[in-house]
Amino acid sequence: MKTAYPPGPKGLPLLGSLLDLRKDKLGFLTSLAKTYGDFVHFRVGPRNAYLVSRPDCVHDILVEHPKRMPKEWIHQRIVAPFFGNGVVTSNGAVHARQRKLAQPAFQPRRLDNYCRIFVEQTLLGIEEWRSGGEYDIDNEMLRMTIQNVSLTLFSADAMDIVPRAAAAMTDILGLLGREYDVALPIPMWVPSEYNRRKKAAIRELNDIVMKFVEDWRKTGQDKGDLLSMLMLAHGEGGDVTHDDLRDNMIAMFSAGHETTAFTLVWTWIMLARYPEVEAALWEELDRVLGGRPPTAEDYPKLVYTQMIIKETLRIYPTGWLLFPRETTEDVALGEYTIPKGGMIYVSPYVIHRNPAYFPDPERFDPERFRAGADKQLPRGAYIPFGLGPRVCMGQHFATMEAVLILATVAQRYRVSILAKQPLVPSGSLALRPPRGVKVRVTARQPASAAAA
Ligand code: HEM
Repeated sequence: MKTAYPPGPKGLPLLGSLLDLRKDKLGFLTSLAKTYGDFVHFRVGPRNAYLVSRPDCVHDILVEHPKRMPKEWIHQRIVAPFFGNGVVTSNGAVHARQRKLAQPAFQPRRLDNYCRIFVEQTLLGIEEWRSGGEYDIDNEMLRMTIQNVSLTLFSADAMDIVPRAAAAMTDILGLLGREYDVALPIPMWVPSEYNRRKKAAIRELNDIVMKFVEDWRKTGQDKGDLLSMLMLAHGEGGDVTHDDLRDNMIAMFSAGHETTAFTLVWTWIMLARYPEVEAALWEELDRVLGGRPPTAEDYPKLVYTQMIIKETLRIYPTGWLLFPRETTEDVALGEYTIPKGGMIYVSPYVIHRNPAYFPDPERFDPERFRAGADKQLPRGAYIPFGLGPRVCMGQHFATMEAVLILATVAQRYRVSILAKQPLVPSGSLALRPPRGVKVRVTARQPASAAAA
């Protein structure tokens, strides 16, 4: 076993690669992998940091030894004012409890009902679209996914709060992202304009989810959703505290809409760039659905539509960088030893560009996922939702939602991208497409189908 560091940049004295991370985290981590390979060492200030992209080592970190490499504490402290001590930020026994609280909301038997809501809301969302009309596709997708997560998990109609929620999310993720990128927390008590904005955005999102709670209390009815489950366990004799309630709702509301909306924005961008993929999608939708809206039963038959979403999640995984992990003791990984306190970065965006598993990786090609080809990949080579005990709780929810929104919209409209500027991602807490991506939509179905 080597105790030497894997290859990597020397960085500046004292600062290491802090400034590179701060300037462009996505560009920096991508260039590290290109220059030094799939196991890289660098420094963030005084700390040892590693970018690990080897599937076997990724598997070790996330599946084999997650207890020895939990989520890193400084990053946790940075996002804690927003996420609290809920499922996203906690570790160990607290995490296991938080996960158990929310898990029933994602049981397979619930997903059929969610599918019905996804399709209904997409149809409502495009009701006002006009052929030839121009729209900001990111706004349109956010509208649908905010409404979907609110209706399915909280039985709450969120149409009126979409602009408020989207603006507050953009603010909080942008602000926390700055501290997060360089692992330097700014304590909340510092009386700065920056902290004032942070507090305002958190307050706005708290108000939104607490209004859902207030509305629930008016009837106190078990609606079979996540909110009812939490509320019924929160009341007398239950062990769900007010903080559990708030933290869980914030986690699901925030993790549950931007990620899927941005996945769909990337899908529209890719379809406009690859007309042969768009044509194959239309062929499948027309053949399988024959003009009627999709249902949960159609989902398994929408094979190519699913392949498109998988390929989008390969090339533009919105969870582009997992929450950094930290070694709690010296840990052997591959042929190296990571000393205690080492910070570990695992990036699906970087991993998914390995030409050994994805030849010509910058090419958008859903055929890579034909006939379960992804199942043949080594574990750890394709991880848009992470892996192991912290795998995304919403992975099936999100995949079904993305597939059904794509199917419902593409069945009726061609979406053409009007943006002149290059559409490149920016990566902080999430992988974002540029804001305000303008599209023109053109009806592609006979009127009878469009009215269905
Ligand atoms: C395309 C959409 C989505 C993507 C790409 C995505 C990606 C991810 C990734 C990569 C992680 C793991 C982070 C890590 O290990 O550091 C994660 C965790 C999580 N996701 Fe998602 N997600 C998506 C949608 C959703 C949805 C719709 C929900 C809920 C409704 C959700 C809820 C969560 C939660 C609660 C966690 C934390 C799990 C834990 O730490 O135990 N996600 N997601």
